[in-house]
Amino acid sequence: MANVSCQSFGKTKEGQEVDLWTLCAGDYSIQVLTYGGILRSFCVPAAEGSRDIVLGCETLGEYEAQDRYFGALIGRVANRIGGACFDLNGKHYPLAANNGPNCLHGGLRGFDRAVWEAREEDGSLVLTLHSPDGEEGFPGTLEVQVTYSLTEDGTLTLDYQARSDQDTLCNLTNHSYFNLLGHAHGSLGDQKIQILADAITEMDENSTPTGTILPVEGTPFDLREPVEIGKGLAMDHIQLKMGNGYDHNFVLHHQPKGPMKLAARATGGGLCLECWTTQPGIQFYTANFLEGDAGKGGACYGFRSAYCLETQIWPDAIHHSNFPSVVLRGGENYHHTTTYRVTAL
Ligand code: GAL
Repeated sequence: MANVSCQSFGKTKEGQEVDLWTLCAGDYSIQVLTYGGILRSFCVPAAEGSRDIVLGCETLGEYEAQDRYFGALIGRVANRIGGACFDLNGKHYPLAANNGPNCLHGGLRGFDRAVWEAREEDGSLVLTLHSPDGEEGFPGTLEVQVTYSLTEDGTLTLDYQARSDQDTLCNLTNHSYFNLLGHAHGSLGDQKIQILADAITEMDENSTPTGTILPVEGTPFDLREPVEIGKGLAMDHIQLKMGNGYDHNFVLHHQPKGPMKLAARATGGGLCLECWTTQPGIQFYTANFLEGDAGKGGACYGFRSAYCLETQIWPDAIHHSNFPSVVLRGGENYHHTTTYRVTAL
């Protein structure tokens, strides 16, 4: 069980108090902000002692000013909703187009910008959020609970639950940027990635899925065996050009929920990071929009200097009947679990 403590992290520009929670378990520790439920640090034992392997900002003001979603919890709907609108039960719901023609990561003020309630429960950190009916255009009042737990064997678990009083859409994830060489390393070096998926969802020039499920065989997306990320990025493929790198949903299951499954394994700097999930997809994003962003402790986060492993229901699922459903029925429970486990290689 982790040792849990809490300190103030200042106030948002609107004057809301934000706390920084710390969970320590053996040689591992994490810090989580009530602002955006952000995973601010993940310190793991490494050759030099302790190494922080997730990117983040130094101050609350810097978190509020950026749009990279560093470490944040994402909702109501992770990734893109094409055309920034959807129909449900015969009603049309317009949303904010905050990413070209799409609605990205829940809209203009997604869960990544909310101040969550937090409490300790049995050595875990429980974050809760009340999202009112109509917030960011989505129907139904949604009660959300995300629990962060950390164990001495280096397993960080995120357990996501939600319930709505009306039919709505729900697809929650975490947007941590990892670099196993350390958050401030500045490049991916020779880190390798393995993603246990036979297919990706093909996307168009707006990063919206076309509906086609593309087998990875013979493409840079064939990561079923470990591949050096830099070598994969250097390959020639129209999908890589469109994403300006890896920024794709890998298909893990065809159902909205599956048994816990190893989705991805990354290695580098003497460490191994495994991502397990019950979600049907994982967005592998190689930080193609970072451009020398200011980070923690004076770090500078350059182009492709980290990667995200965002477990999710497939992007724009509401517009594709062949995708796992993203509809959460009123009164039903939304629940999924993702773990990130870091061990020595
Ligand atoms: C990812 C998304 C990227 C980019 C990023 C935030 O989840 O797939 O295209 O928007 O978030 O910078």
